[in-house]
Amino acid sequence: MASRYSDVYAAWKADPSGFWSEAAEAIDWFERPRRIFDAELGTYGHWFPDGVTNTCYNCLDRHVKAGRAEQTAFIYDSPVTGRIEKISYAALLADVKAMAAVYGKLGIGKGDRIIIYMPMIPEAAIAMLAAARIGAVHSVVFGGFAANELAVRIDDCRPKLVVSASCGLEPGRTVAYKPLLDQAIEIANNKPGHCLIFQRDMLSADMVPGRDIDFAAALAAAKQAGEETPCAAVASTDPLYVLYTSGTTGQPKGVLRDNGGHMVALKWSMENFFGVQPGEVFWAASDIGWVVGHSYIVYGPLLNGSTSVLFEGKPVGTPDPGTYWRIIAEHGVTVMFTAPTALRAIRKEDPEASHVARYDLSRFRALYLAGERADPDTIRWAERALGVPVIDHWWQTETGWPVAGNPLGLGLLPVKYGSPAVPLPGYDVQVLDDAGHPVGAGTLGNVVVKLPLPPGCLPTLWKADDRFRAAYLAEYPGYYKTADAGYIDEEGYVFIMARTDDIINVAGHRLSTGAMEEVCASHPDVAECAVIGIADPMKGQVPAGFLVINANVSRETAEIEKEVIALVRERIGPVAAFRTAICVKRLPKTRSGKILRATIQKIADRQPWKMPATIDDPAILDEIAEALHAKGIGI
Ligand code: COA
Ligand code: AMP
Repeated sequence: MASRYSDVYAAWKADPSGFWSEAAEAIDWFERPRRIFDAELGTYGHWFPDGVTNTCYNCLDRHVKAGRAEQTAFIYDSPVTGRIEKISYAALLADVKAMAAVYGKLGIGKGDRIIIYMPMIPEAAIAMLAAARIGAVHSVVFGGFAANELAVRIDDCRPKLVVSASCGLEPGRTVAYKPLLDQAIEIANNKPGHCLIFQRDMLSADMVPGRDIDFAAALAAAKQAGEETPCAAVASTDPLYVLYTSGTTGQPKGVLRDNGGHMVALKWSMENFFGVQPGEVFWAASDIGWVVGHSYIVYGPLLNGSTSVLFEGKPVGTPDPGTYWRIIAEHGVTVMFTAPTALRAIRKEDPEASHVARYDLSRFRALYLAGERADPDTIRWAERALGVPVIDHWWQTETGWPVAGNPLGLGLLPVKYGSPAVPLPGYDVQVLDDAGHPVGAGTLGNVVVKLPLPPGCLPTLWKADDRFRAAYLAEYPGYYKTADAGYIDEEGYVFIMARTDDIINVAGHRLSTGAMEEVCASHPDVAECAVIGIADPMKGQVPAGFLVINANVSRETAEIEKEVIALVRERIGPVAAFRTAICVKRLPKTRSGKILRATIQKIADRQPWKMPATIDDPAILDEIAEALHAKGIGI
């Protein structure tokens, strides 16, 4: 089939308002938007500013009314507990209505915040959708973050309620969430009024009388009482959620998502980009704590009337590297989404992809990859193993949906390995040099998107308009700065090569080395430090910390390294995967005092490097190379 991509992209470019006005028809509005985009509103404009709608209504109520009541909305597949459950649209709606009533009883209404700190269980999605139903703003915090990170988020968005569970299940260990939550509330200045705790069979959490409420009991009581809550009418521009993502400091950025634009973009992407029809099964193997989970486990598939798989497990070890293929076969998944790191993990354990042959993948049409650069070798391996297109696509927490990718729904374009293909309608992607001038085809530079961003992208940061402007809009006036470096070739294919800031990508998780440096520097024996991302064959990158110890300290350096590693785990969380700390005598710097992180990284990654002309003392680089050598890195 010839791709319709060029025509569709040209149609958007010729008439963006007409394009999005038509896309908005796929959403039910309580009051249809008469204006499509208002450039005057907000920090740089708002989509569908006079539209009134509700995201939960569009995800559930309208499908139940339209005959999808008995269709499965979620398939909860949990190899870590051995449970598989199918939840119909009608059953999900009943739970969400009851949970919304529970929220109401707790005095939570439109605009109030609810933090959700939960493992991958259906109750997490119920908590999100119920918040959307009443117009409350949810903020999901990934379970792999430590108490301190949770506390930072509690203080920033000031929730009235935290919804959590007694535990999460990681291979080989039970992660007790409740003590982390209790600790976070103790650290936080702003204390939530209540916590709704889902007690899981494998671990019962201690409850704080007066504050903590049993999730299941409250839900059951609301259901029994027949309590229902109608969908609140919210403005298209009202916030649906805040999702924190790593910034360049320890203070994460609260990415804000609206209701109307978000729904229009996600619905458009489900059919036109991923090529998934209502009624079909779509699976994003991510976590609700990440943007992928928000957009493509919960909201996108439900808005589309599709069935979504909620997977509580890992690509390997739960129980074997065939788990993904089992789920695709057993549940009839048509399109799947995962991170390249997951495939590398599978490939490491099953290089011949022998597990694929155990399953019937005849309904499977395509595998989408994002979260980090998809290396051509991994793509080719997966193509050979699965016999379907394996499609790289590029986006960010901020954008909420893909910026560039090969659109299965419009007909695939020829593949260029190493490129997430072409910009999607809505995105005018360009590459600028550091002075803000456009560069020619094939020239590396700063990847930007011409304003306005399309529906679905962040309108601002939660209560931080100035930070939003400073971080994304100020450097290249008229453009959104992605903070990715890359180039566009002569045929318009985008290549994303690296970040231009201190963010590293660890197993598809976005982490700030700046935040890790703040933690390392807080160790009493550390005078100075630098954290960089070094190449890792499975995770893409892992952090490594270089520590300069205070002159008067005579303790064993190995001991200090261990303590710093433990400190990062305790303050940021296990997800940081911070396992390498190296004490060095000095850090290499320019004469103006800037630490030469990029040069250290090249040495560690065994890449060719040049002695920086501005280096203060070249001998320090030899010391760094020696220290890395002693740890078996960079040799
Ligand atoms: N709650 C608590 N702890 C968690 C957690 C959660 N939800 N998720 C991860 N962790 C912990 C892990 O248990 C691990 O702890 P450990 O140091 O005690 O072993 C640590 O955080 C690092 O986890 P992870 O990055 O998952 O590494 P891993 O070595 O356990 O597994 C992969 C590696 C590749 C299998 C895994 O990263 C994976 O499945 N990645 C898929 C990518 C993905 O989902 N990306 C999201 C964006 S699309
Ligand atoms: P996150 O906000 O966690 O989704 O991370 C977004 C960042 O991950 C992007 O800015 C990129 O640096 C990186 N990224 C995501 N997808 C891709 C991709 N397909 N290719 C290259 N980098 C990617």
